[in-house]
Order: sequence, then C-alpha cells, then structure tokens
Amino acid sequence: MEELYRRDGAQLVVLYGRRRIGKTELLRRFASGKKAVYLYCERTSARDNLARFRDLLADALGVEFLRGASFPDWEPLFKAVQHILERERVVIVFDEFPYLVDVDPSLPSKFQRLWDEVLSRTKAFLVLCGSSVSVMENEVLGYRSPLYGRRTGSWKLGELPLSALKFFYPRPFEERLYVVRSRRRRADVPQEVRPLGALLEQRGEGVLH
Ligand SMILES: Nc1ncnc2c1ncn2[C@@H]1O[C@H](COP(=O)(O)OP(=O)(O)O)[C@@H](O)[C@H]1O
Ligand SMILES: [Mg+2]
Repeated sequence: MEELYRRDGAQLVVLYGRRRIGKTELLRRFASGKKAVYLYCERTSARDNLARFRDLLADALGVEFLRGASFPDWEPLFKAVQHILERERVVIVFDEFPYLVDVDPSLPSKFQRLWDEVLSRTKAFLVLCGSSVSVMENEVLGYRSPLYGRRTGSWKLGELPLSALKFFYPRPFEERLYVVRSRRRRADVPQEVRPLGALLEQRGEGVLH
C-alpha cells in the first residue's frame, strides 16, 4: 500500500479478509501521519453514512462549507471537493464497505461512476475494505461487478504464519512456548501438547533465530 501511495495518480485499493484478522488496524496505521478520511460504514442508512462522511471530510480537508451542506448523493459531495483532491493526495477509507452496499444495493454502480467521472482524475487514494469475503469478491472485485477492472491493488489479508511469533516474543522462545492441539472442538483434555519449536520444524518453518 505504501508503494502504491508513492505512485502518481489516483489509486483504488481493495482490502478484505475475515473478521478480526487486522484489516482495520492495518488501515489505521497506514492512514496515520497522512491526510486521510476514515469512515466505518454502518448498516444505518445511506443518508446517515453520507452525512457522517461529509463531516469527516470537512475535518480532514479543513473545509467548513461542507458541514451542514446537503448533498443528495456521493458524487455531488466528491465533486464539491474535486479541486482539492486534484492537488493533494488524500487517503479515503471505507471500512466495512459491504454494510454500505447492504443499505444501498446500487452503491457499486454509483461508485463506479464516481470513480470514472471524478476520483480517477484526482490524486485520491481510495480504499474499499470489508470482512464479507463473498460481497468483496462478487460485488467489488468480480467480473459482474460495476467496479470490475478499476482497482489498482487488492489484498486478501490472511493470518500471520506461526513463525511470525518471533516478532512478538523474546528469543529463544520455541522451548518455552507450547502448542496445544485438539481434534475435538470442545475437548476438555488436549490431545497433543508439543513445544512450538518441534511443530515449526515439522512444518518446515525451521529454526527462527
Ligand atoms: N499487527 C497487529 N498486532 C497486534 N494486534 C493486532 C494487530 N492487528 C490487529 N490487532 C488486534 O487484533 C484485533 C482485530 O483487529 P482488527 O483490525 O479490528 O480486525 P478486522 O478489522 O480485520 O476485523 C484488534 O483487537 C486489534 O487491536
Ligand atoms: Mg475491521
């Protein structure tokens, strides 16, 4: 994402993966220190999300005229600040974008138009993020989605590998950390307790330090 950020021109980034995998945290860190607008979409109504976004945009860009102004939809709102987005790189995050699609199923079409007519001609760095893998794959990335072919980058965020533990624990840790595995979901007695080091070696992830 940092690499795309340094490139010229508008970017449309899609980030998805199951809940609690670290998407929001990643986006917050990416946005920190940059001019950015972060909207956590809610299943309230399209109107409510638009109004919250308008006020966040007013804060981020320092344009008071937006606040309180009434916009019938996303495109007129973005058009009102297009001149700013043409000059400045601004990160615009729609987190849990599928919630917005839930309350307005025509949203992918609207965002396609918004991208083609307005944002693609600016320096906007638009991020569409979601935990619903099916909505993100079908309605945003998929061939039948209006947004198909627009993205300039996309990531499906997965779990960290076991070997990433070396970044979190002092070494040597393999002997001190034990992995408890059980074949039954609710087993009271674990079926297997092994040092992490042995498990990693078996998986070919090797010695970590
Ligand atoms: N790199 C990380 N290191 C440590 N904790 C993290 C990291 N990324 C996320 N977390 C924590 O994991 C939890 C889930 O992360 P979150 O970003 O909310 O996931 P998602 O947005 O994919 O549902 C949060 O409590 C968050 O603070
Ligand atoms: Mg999240």
